[in-house]
Amino acid sequence: MMERYRLMMLGPPGAGKGTQAKRLAEKFDIPHVSTGDMLRAARRKGTELGEKAAEYMDAGKLVPDEVVIGIVNERLDEDDAARGFILDGFPRTRPQAEALVDRGVNLDAVINIDISDDEVVDRLGGRRSCPECGAVYHIDANPPEQDDVCDSCGHQGLMTRDDDRPEAIRQRLDSYHEKTSPLIEFYEERDVLRNIDGIGSPDEVNATIVYELQGE
Ligand code: AP5
Repeated sequence: MMERYRLMMLGPPGAGKGTQAKRLAEKFDIPHVSTGDMLRAARRKGTELGEKAAEYMDAGKLVPDEVVIGIVNERLDEDDAARGFILDGFPRTRPQAEALVDRGVNLDAVINIDISDDEVVDRLGGRRSCPECGAVYHIDANPPEQDDVCDSCGHQGLMTRDDDRPEAIRQRLDSYHEKTSPLIEFYEERDVLRNIDGIGSPDEVNATIVYELQGE
């Protein structure tokens, strides 16, 4: 087993990147670095960055590279990232992937979760998130134990994300196919790509990823 992991989740919106990244972060005791979560947190706080990002996010468009590269570089400068990390939602464009190379980061594995566009629409349409702690559910595949109540923190009232509206989902899929899916080849050429079938329960997908990484 590798002593520390520098991992990245790749895949279309709704593939289950966040769901799996949280589990892997816990299993390997490494920080979960999600650009989507960081941008949503900045937005909740009403910072300049959050306000700038909001208009892109609500439209399902990518936030400009220089903004996202800046927040990831700051996060990776923090002490806990020295023991490894799992990137979720970054890089998403070729310039972002190159910024990571320029920083001297060599990823150990890029976990590419594959699901169809139809499955994306089903998953995002049924996603509910806790506004308090960020836990993520699905009304059919992964419901909370008690209707509309977060299992993790007990908050009542789960939310639908603003960018999970049908027009925004379509735009996010277009951005993925145009700007992000070319990274599959980028990482294949660097021999770090691990293709994972995203169909199956979250537990089954998790077992496949752990087997790919550790053979157990
Ligand atoms: P971000 O938050 O990264 O969104 P995303 O990539 O579109 O991914 P999602 O969070 O929608 O889905 P996911 O793959 O994590 O799936 P999840 O686990 O939630 O980014 C949002 C926005 O921020 C972007 O559109 C952009 O504007 C901006 N942004 C972020 N990073 C950026 C960057 N690097 N550059 C530029 N802009 C950036 O699962 C989805 C649903 O499916 C859930 O309901 C879940 O419970 C369910 N589910 C999960 N696994 C399974 C399973 N195996 N079976 C059935 N259901 C499942």
